[in-house]
Amino acid sequence: MKKKLISLVLAMAMSLTAFAACNKEDTNSDGAYGDKKVGVCIYQFSDNFMTLFRTELENYLIEQGFSKKNITIVDGANDQATQSAQIDNFIAQGVDVLIINPVNSSSASTITDKVVAAGIPLVYINREPDAAEEARWAENDWDVCYVGCDARQSGTMQGEIIADLGLDTIDMNGNGMVDYIMIEGDPENVDAQYRTEYSIAALEDAGLTVNCLDDQVGMWEQVKGQELVGNDLSQFGSDIEVVFCNNDAMALGALQAIQTAGRTVGSDIYLVGVDALTEVVQYVIDGTITGTVFNDHFSQSHSAADAAINYITDTPNEHYIGCDYVKVTTENAQEILDLVS
Ligand code: GAL
Repeated sequence: MKKKLISLVLAMAMSLTAFAACNKEDTNSDGAYGDKKVGVCIYQFSDNFMTLFRTELENYLIEQGFSKKNITIVDGANDQATQSAQIDNFIAQGVDVLIINPVNSSSASTITDKVVAAGIPLVYINREPDAAEEARWAENDWDVCYVGCDARQSGTMQGEIIADLGLDTIDMNGNGMVDYIMIEGDPENVDAQYRTEYSIAALEDAGLTVNCLDDQVGMWEQVKGQELVGNDLSQFGSDIEVVFCNNDAMALGALQAIQTAGRTVGSDIYLVGVDALTEVVQYVIDGTITGTVFNDHFSQSHSAADAAINYITDTPNEHYIGCDYVKVTTENAQEILDLVS
């Protein structure tokens, strides 16, 4: 009899443990915002930087007390029509807040109109809508804001990293100019426009004369970066002194092309990106990539989640929530690597 009782108690304890383990899957169903539904639209899942961003965003939302099952993150597959249908779906489901990384920033006014009409607060991330669109949020006192960095700053930092090398180092062909190629991200996106413009403006502000050998669109993608830089290296050869890439994924592609062409970063060519992907920061430490700029996905995703929480709890937000970039060179690369890895 006693034995039977012990095994009954044991069985009950085991099933309780199993129940607790199952519940762990969804630790925060009782969290502060356990019943709140968050819809997150990402322009494209295959984007390296946005992958870091969305992973951190989800983790942080869960830490803040949201339930994993109530956070839905969808892939816009770089197609605005697909993303617009996803937004319609979230509206139909009645989510409590939307966090949107638009495929086309120019579609923001249409998106804002329908989300506001549905009475859902909206946090834009990463791809900044234009000034006229942002002005409407303030004028109408809508629960709409943007969280991101000022891309001009990242461009300036890229230019400074190169300018700081000094003309004597950069100007290997001795023509008195910085001969460069530019590999751009999606030109619809202000990040690409500003980085392209401000990186070169920083060289000129440092008193350097520039010579653009080629400017191509790599759409933020490594494969395209490799292909475009490979073509340019065949066409312009040793005349290319600097390769500017609007982001690190394309810089990784550029590096492959540079190595294939038998060139060596740091001795006969210079290369900069933006984002501070772990791999790239390691290359900066090794001297294989000249420098990058840290695009702080921790700060941006946390601010976006905090803004969403504010709206959910009826607390207003500023309409523009900024974040600083950080220049990454051999001097601080280890520090940045410790932070991102
Ligand atoms: C930029 C980032 C790029 C890409 C782009 C997508 O801020 O540097 O790597 O993710 O956003 O809009």
